[in-house]
Amino acid sequence: MIMKLSSSHMDNIPSTPGKFKMDKSPYIHRFRHYSSLAKLTFWSFVFLGLIVVFFFKSPSTSPPNSMPSDLSRRSLKTSSWGGPAWEKRVRSSARIRSQNGLSVLVTGAAGFVGTHVSAALKRRGDGVLGLDNFNNYYDPTLKRARQALLERSGIYIVEGDINDIALLQKLFEVNPFTHVMHLAAQAGVRYAMENPNSYVHSNIAGLVNLLEVCKNANPQPAIVWASSSSVYGLNSKVPFSEKDRTDQPASLYAATKKAGEEIAHTYNHIYGLSLTGLRFFTVYGPWGRPDMAYFFFTRDILKGKSIPIFEASNHGTVARDFTYIDDIVKGCLGALDTAEKSTGSGGKKKGPAQLRVFNLGNTSPVPVSDLVSILEKLLKVKAKRMVMKLPRNGDVQFTHANISFAEREFGYKPTTDLQTGLKKFVRWYVSYYGSGKKNSH
Ligand SMILES: NC(=O)c1ccc[n+]([C@@H]2O[C@H](COP(=O)([O-])OP(=O)(O)OC[C@H]3O[C@@H](n4cnc5c(N)ncnc54)[C@H](O)[C@@H]3O)[C@@H](O)[C@H]2O)c1
Ligand SMILES: *[C@@H]1O[C@H](CO)[C@@H](O)[C@H](O)[C@H]1NC(C)=O
Repeated sequence: MIMKLSSSHMDNIPSTPGKFKMDKSPYIHRFRHYSSLAKLTFWSFVFLGLIVVFFFKSPSTSPPNSMPSDLSRRSLKTSSWGGPAWEKRVRSSARIRSQNGLSVLVTGAAGFVGTHVSAALKRRGDGVLGLDNFNNYYDPTLKRARQALLERSGIYIVEGDINDIALLQKLFEVNPFTHVMHLAAQAGVRYAMENPNSYVHSNIAGLVNLLEVCKNANPQPAIVWASSSSVYGLNSKVPFSEKDRTDQPASLYAATKKAGEEIAHTYNHIYGLSLTGLRFFTVYGPWGRPDMAYFFFTRDILKGKSIPIFEASNHGTVARDFTYIDDIVKGCLGALDTAEKSTGSGGKKKGPAQLRVFNLGNTSPVPVSDLVSILEKLLKVKAKRMVMKLPRNGDVQFTHANISFAEREFGYKPTTDLQTGLKKFVRWYVSYYGSGKKNSH
């Protein structure tokens, strides 16, 4: 399988300089036979050497923002949409099939949470249309497999970028969505050191673009979107409550999510958009994200590879409030169902609109070493633990949600403990990838 996702996501880097070198060497060989051209050979060798050096250097010396713009250009280019057949497909997917059902545009529908939320909405008769750019932050074949899963229940995922304003406008033209479930984002904390602009592209520019289209839509949809527990940053008061300070992000990812919350405030204030932000706490489960610890721990334990277990300074425990995907889905649906209508239309505000932020967590932080012990038991393989100091590149020491607000507003109550949830994850993992070594490398 193409599952190659260690801590560094080098898969994203376009053409490798090594490839270039290899293409050129046979060319040099051909010239060697002509002794009269010895001088020319020498100089062409020098010249080619310079070219190779130039190409070798250019990707790494170019400013880091050249890569993401390539990425965005690529994702904008690959989207092909339009035409009567396409519109019919969009309408059919978004059609409401139950009384008082919603018609929901789900961004990031090929993602982990997006897939589960889309399927749940569809099951209860809501109309669902997906949108995803299928980027390669992690193995896109997993996104394609999720897409195939949704397709079987009649959900169409349009391939496109949330930055593509013409596409978004077209979608609202074709179907008057009552709600937007906005889950498309650049997730992950450590990847920001490799590709910071992908966070700006999806989490800030993309969000603004989406809100622009929503505020112009008539009627305006209500929007529920994914923020993150990471906005609590260096906050040390536990459990984290929505009223706690969130102005000390510890990662660029967190900073872009925090920015999103402020942008949401603006669009609510100026245009009357109904906006609900959900601060997810470490979501896990079947069809999960390969860049998350529970996922690659499982893979590496099965492969007999050692796994890094972080501890904070003075041997402090690193713990997470792991939240099972089904509980998160219930929270998303609860937020959608209690979202009030936006009050504006045609870009104008008519009155004050709803603005909310909720924690969606599990309320029981579990040390990462306990997570590993549970996995060892489920996989029946002993893990090779490598205890390391928590790097200061974005991960916080612990997270713990106070969920009383979501409980009060829409009865949010997580019911799956880590043991039970991981059992379901492992069962899925083994059926998808197999338990042997043949599928990984
Ligand atoms: N999983 C968690 O533990 C967790 C925790 C906190 C917050 N969140 C947030 O929840 C949301 C869903 O997370 P997930 O775990 O399902 O991540 P995911 O990466 O599996 O899903 C995100 C999807 O969005 C798509 N996408 C990204 N940028 C896009 C763009 N510019 N245009 C169109 N599509 C784009 C990706 O291809 C991907 O399929 C994200 O906003 C994430 O930041 C997740
Ligand atoms: C949780 O948050 C609520 C406010 O939403 C607050 O009243 C309550 O005291 C908090 N609980 C704890 C344990 O901090």
